[in-house]
Amino acid sequence: MDYNIYLDKNDHDGIRQALDTYGYCVARQVITLDHVQRLKDEIDRFVDPDRSVALASGKFHNTFAEQSDVLWELVDNPEYMNLRTALLGVTDVCLHRSAAILRTPGDPAGAWHSDHCGQRKGPKNNANDFLNRYSMPSGGWFYLNGSHPDRSGIAVMEYSHTEEWQPPEGFHMDDERRMLYRDGDDTPYSKLDAPGMVPVIADPGDLILFSALTLHVNMETKERRYSCGMAFRPKSIQIDVPWKLTEGAQKMIDRLPAHLKHYTEGYTSIDLNWKP
Ligand SMILES: [Fe+2]
Repeated sequence: MDYNIYLDKNDHDGIRQALDTYGYCVARQVITLDHVQRLKDEIDRFVDPDRSVALASGKFHNTFAEQSDVLWELVDNPEYMNLRTALLGVTDVCLHRSAAILRTPGDPAGAWHSDHCGQRKGPKNNANDFLNRYSMPSGGWFYLNGSHPDRSGIAVMEYSHTEEWQPPEGFHMDDERRMLYRDGDDTPYSKLDAPGMVPVIADPGDLILFSALTLHVNMETKERRYSCGMAFRPKSIQIDVPWKLTEGAQKMIDRLPAHLKHYTEGYTSIDLNWKP
């Protein structure tokens, strides 16, 4: 196949089918260009308030929904939440986790990886080991500059969302199925030249979706680039985390209007400093 798959944001069956079949797709124009600009402004404000992020680097915000107002405006929009809940197959959902990433020109390509920690062999040793182990779409990301190999963005490996999938000829993965390597090389692979590697081409406002196991890679960044994502999970999946609800999470819960608070029931917050 080896090409981008685009669907209308209201074609929930088509989106689910594309994720089931290929492990990724782009839902077109899920948010307006006004949302795009305001999310970029929030990322500037919360991630790089004094414009000190160096060239050729990236900075992460690992609890973006705890500060963003725009993400919650989206949650307040039935059309947006109907899409998000359709992906999970249930309507009773809570915030699972959220993030924003700011990258600056010159930030190199990352390494092919899966976010899923479900195959981890040893004991859980960080917050991701608790949170990234369910079969919910992993990528629900707004690439606010769009995504294109000439500028910046994400690439995905088609069909890599199933447990039966095998890496292309000449490649292998580690035994926790997290990183991709070329045979005979112990540096994780970052190029886009093997069969099945699909550079995502998307516009600002599109939602880039991929499945829990889907391999993906951050492409080389050639402009100041903004992205953010928000993941939900069925409330029936309760996660017993070893860290306490953080202050930032409590502040978010306190500030949300009454009719949105139920989306925080079950939210664990994230303490990335937690160690066993
Ligand atoms: Fe990732």
